[in-house]
Amino acid sequence: MSLTRRPSPKHRNDTRNQGAAMKVFLIGAAGGVGRRLAATLVAHGDTATGMHRNPEQHDAVAQSGATPVIGDIIEDTIEELAAKLAGHDAVVYSAGAHGTGKDQTTLIDGKGVEKAAAAAAKAGATKFVLVSAFADSERASGYGDGFEHYIKVKRGAEIHLTGTGLDWIIVRPGHLLDGAGDGLICAGLALREEPIRRENLAQFIREALHHPELTRTIVEVTDGQTPIAEALTHVAHSVGPRR
Ligand SMILES: NC(=O)c1ccc[n+]([C@@H]2O[C@H](COP(=O)([O-])OP(=O)(O)OC[C@H]3O[C@@H](n4cnc5c(N)ncnc54)[C@H](OP(=O)(O)O)[C@@H]3O)[C@@H](O)[C@H]2O)c1
Repeated sequence: MSLTRRPSPKHRNDTRNQGAAMKVFLIGAAGGVGRRLAATLVAHGDTATGMHRNPEQHDAVAQSGATPVIGDIIEDTIEELAAKLAGHDAVVYSAGAHGTGKDQTTLIDGKGVEKAAAAAAKAGATKFVLVSAFADSERASGYGDGFEHYIKVKRGAEIHLTGTGLDWIIVRPGHLLDGAGDGLICAGLALREEPIRRENLAQFIREALHHPELTRTIVEVTDGQTPIAEALTHVAHSVGPRR
């Protein structure tokens, strides 16, 4: 006999009724994950504010469904960021230096997370999702020093976030792919690394934000065979509430 209650097909992959609508602040909103996340949040009744640093990205952020706001995780102070975050329930951090050098990696993937976490605490936006990476991600691929630095910085940001009082979820996706999502994933505390489509990742983050039991945990996620809601329930049961 299975101890896990399987959701009926009707409710699979549909957590719209779990929790009230959220106001979510996206850091990295003009990026591949950020734009897809805004679209799925808004489609499911949440609202999104999308922070972008380049004024030319205004229209792309608006088209994703988010309300655009200019901000730079390097230049903004904690107080300036906190003012932007006021009134939001949650922050999703998917900004990244994207191979623009070690210094930028340190500032965006590392220090930026610390700054955003401090601003979120100050603003009372206590739910905080960090898009991180598999700890051993593609290290055998010979990407070299810059990539080693990236992995080290991502790890440092995770360590920092787990030491805060925020209601954090660290999401480690596999290699990110474009292309339409199918809502089928594999999620767990420790997985073999496989790719994931950004659209599946965005849907996963939206549902994770609304999952009442998924809190203060690290989840690895790849494309797979399991509907997102079901995968999230299994992960939540394996970690239990952590307050
Ligand atoms: N690529 C992969 O296979 C992979 C695998 C695992 C994890 N990840 C992680 O997944 C996350 C999101 O990926 P993605 O595909 O959405 O990346 P992306 O398309 O490069 O988006 C990242 C966004 O962050 C923004 N950003 C960079 N610096 C900023 C700053 N100082 N202030 C404000 N915004 C800033 C970028 O804006 P600009 O356009 O102005 O630069 C960009 O819009 C990243 O953190 C990445 O490390 C990626």
